[in-house]
Amino acid sequence: MSSKCNRRKFVQLGMAAGVAAAVQGMSVASAEEKPLRIGVIGMGNRGTHLLNVCLKEPGIEVAGICDIRRDAMRRGIDLVDQAGQKRPAGYYYDQFDYRRMLTRDDIEAVVIATPMQWHTTMAVDALKARKHVLSEVSATITLEECWNLVHAAEETDRIYMLSENCCYYRSNMAVLNMVSQGIFGDFTYAECGYVHDCRYLDFTPDGKLTWRGELARDYIGNLYPTHAIGPVATWLGINRGDRFESLVSFTTRQAGRTVNAIKKFGKDHPAAQTPFSVGDSTTTLIRTAKGAMIDLRYDTASARPVLNTTYYGLQGTTASYDDRDNVQRIWIDGRSEGEKWDSLETLLTEFEHPLWQRLREQAEGSGHSGGDFFVVHEFFDTIRTGRPSPIDAYDAATWSAVIGLSGKSIREGGRPQEFPDFTGGAWKTRKQTLLMG
Ligand SMILES: NC(=O)c1ccc[n+]([C@@H]2O[C@H](COP(=O)([O-])OP(=O)(O)OC[C@H]3O[C@@H](n4cnc5c(N)ncnc54)[C@H](O)[C@@H]3O)[C@@H](O)[C@H]2O)c1
Repeated sequence: MSSKCNRRKFVQLGMAAGVAAAVQGMSVASAEEKPLRIGVIGMGNRGTHLLNVCLKEPGIEVAGICDIRRDAMRRGIDLVDQAGQKRPAGYYYDQFDYRRMLTRDDIEAVVIATPMQWHTTMAVDALKARKHVLSEVSATITLEECWNLVHAAEETDRIYMLSENCCYYRSNMAVLNMVSQGIFGDFTYAECGYVHDCRYLDFTPDGKLTWRGELARDYIGNLYPTHAIGPVATWLGINRGDRFESLVSFTTRQAGRTVNAIKKFGKDHPAAQTPFSVGDSTTTLIRTAKGAMIDLRYDTASARPVLNTTYYGLQGTTASYDDRDNVQRIWIDGRSEGEKWDSLETLLTEFEHPLWQRLREQAEGSGHSGGDFFVVHEFFDTIRTGRPSPIDAYDAATWSAVIGLSGKSIREGGRPQEFPDFTGGAWKTRKQTLLMG
């Protein structure tokens, strides 16, 4: 039997188990009465936060903690201990020690929260070791990595999910719900951006480049696209009825990172000479097969207050959505008053997404407007029920491909770049299962 058949069979089997359990009025987890054992790789800021969210999920046992920094690994182990679980094993010998954890049969899933440069290698290794994967963003950096991830996911029967928490924002999910009810008609235009002064993360306190600083030194283009493009892609049904066809990208010169390095360390410090490649602000225009256009901005180096780090807008033939300046407003043809926007909040009684209706209390307070709870919860629920991953390797590769393609377009003076069709034509018929659980 081919691996794809295996996967199909696994999904069917998983769904059958889910249906049987539902009929008996219990969750699959309780039906099996078996905890799901996981390992977490990367115990920095994000990994620690995700670990804490995982520890609140019923039926989850953290059996392994991996970080090349021994102190970070120990901190993770202590957190598991303090949550009342058995002290997990630690892995910290070298950069590939996570592979030792992957050889364990009792660990079924891993959460990857390491620097972006590691995501694809670790995800591919984990999928090949038959572990389910929840990977932090972005999934990949290069186009080659996009294909490696897609192939690894196609060749396994395990779940891959991208941990794109912005897709699960209450407002973004309400818009998705409206989209699925046809409120927007057809789409023509969307805009989104990640605009967040992150220069304070470029250097360690003694002036060495962090992984984020190295990324900004080694690559150009939109280096962090998924927070912005993810929710928009779900609204437009990308890889599920439409697809990204091509993009063009332009960027400013690099200035803000050097200003920051001089301010922090002085003009004679080596940090001030760092040859950063990425421009301060990058704009990318993406065209879809159905003729919609997306205006996508990326800027992590401009001096500005941290108020809202992402923004989104959607233009359909019958409605318009705009959440700039943290004000979420919508206008619906034939329903909203003449020139006046409606506040999205006032329509939530009608359009709240079913997941938020059901799980709002648990989600609120989990970080990133509830998004962090949902990525973790959905990942485990997907494993238990066998339903398709809400944000699978095709989505992850497509959204992350913006990094490589925008860089190439900029290097070629704004020349259009074609998106690979990672789904091999399946985008035409794939069902919109994203976030509709
Ligand atoms: N979804 C979100 O909202 C969100 C927010 C912040 C960061 N992130 C993503 O999370 C990831 C981690 O970011 P962070 O801010 O926690 O970074 P961080 O630098 O604080 O943590 C990274 C950790 O990974 C460890 N590490 C590095 N190489 C390793 C290896 N080979 N094996 C094991 N451990 C290794 C480091 O020692 C460090 O503790 C990044 O990919 C980032 O893009 C996502």
